[in-house]
Amino acid sequence: MIKKASVVEIGPRDGFQNVKEFIPTEIKLNIIDGLVKSGYKKIQMGSFVSPKAIPQMRDSGEIAQIVLERYPNVDFFALVPNLYGAKAAVKAGLKEIAPVMSLSESHNMANVKRTCAQSIEEIRKIREELPDVKITQDIATVFGCPFEGEMSVDALVEMIGKLRDIGIHAFTLCDTVGMAYPTLVEKVFRTVKKAFPGDEFNVHIHDTRNMGILNSYIALENGVDSVQAAVGGLGGCPFAPGASGNTSSEDLVYMLNKCGCETGIDFEQLLKTAKYTKSVIDGNFSGHHINIPEKPCVVTQE
Ligand code: COA
Ligand code: ZN
Repeated sequence: MIKKASVVEIGPRDGFQNVKEFIPTEIKLNIIDGLVKSGYKKIQMGSFVSPKAIPQMRDSGEIAQIVLERYPNVDFFALVPNLYGAKAAVKAGLKEIAPVMSLSESHNMANVKRTCAQSIEEIRKIREELPDVKITQDIATVFGCPFEGEMSVDALVEMIGKLRDIGIHAFTLCDTVGMAYPTLVEKVFRTVKKAFPGDEFNVHIHDTRNMGILNSYIALENGVDSVQAAVGGLGGCPFAPGASGNTSSEDLVYMLNKCGCETGIDFEQLLKTAKYTKSVIDGNFSGHHINIPEKPCVVTQE
């Protein structure tokens, strides 16, 4: 068993973006408060996208300003689809952004209305115009596309090569619809780590086939720098049919902590936050239905 893992929370972005009814800013902040209290050191707090595309994310600027002031020791970052969003994120005070593009042309077009070449050009402009912000590039549909099926690892290596040419050296490889399986996860991470030693690679998994924990673990075993998960197993991309929730943070943290892998996250506090999250948004959630088990049953001996 690996001894240490960096778990990054992405529920406030991937989780909330798939909730149809607007979650009041105050409630979003309560959930982030609970996550920080649980011990998270890195949280994706939202996204700077068109409010027409994802109305739920329209308060990300306000949230960024509040949490950056409230929690100076936590790394907050946001997803951005273009230069416009990147500038807005930096203006709100963020020091790290995750521009998103897909490995597959068709999902990239559905999601950000650009060809892959146009997205790379947009990311080049972001790198050039905002030289001080840390860029961790999200690559969606790496493990499968809802329109094109399984993707090629060679095509991934080629895309990473193009992104490195414009100065990007940190990547999050995303299983946008939950098509990943353990041997593919192993192949992908072994390949990219061998091809690009020294670069940062993170993983982002959806739990469509209940393989989220296993795939996350395989990624950790193959040396990923961090693994992303969402409180309550929320999540889903509105532009990727079939996508369900992300790997549930509390399940992942439970497994890692119990097995002696240090996460720095307090399971009990995280479970409380997951239950609060469920209580405020359950019934109003269009994706994966969040099912948070009670604490594993402990029978007290009389
Ligand atoms: N944030 C806020 N507003 C933005 C924006 C951003 N990042 N980018 C563009 N806009 C605004 C423009 O100002 C314009 O406003 P107007 O209609 O008032 O003039 C409008 O959105 C359309 O701009 P345009 O560049 O033509 O965008 P588009 O309609 O081609 O949409 C994206 C492209 C990328 C902005 C949009 O598809 C998007 O935000 N996608 C995000 C998808 C997402 O978050 N997916 C889930 C995460 S993987
Ligand atoms: Zn996702």
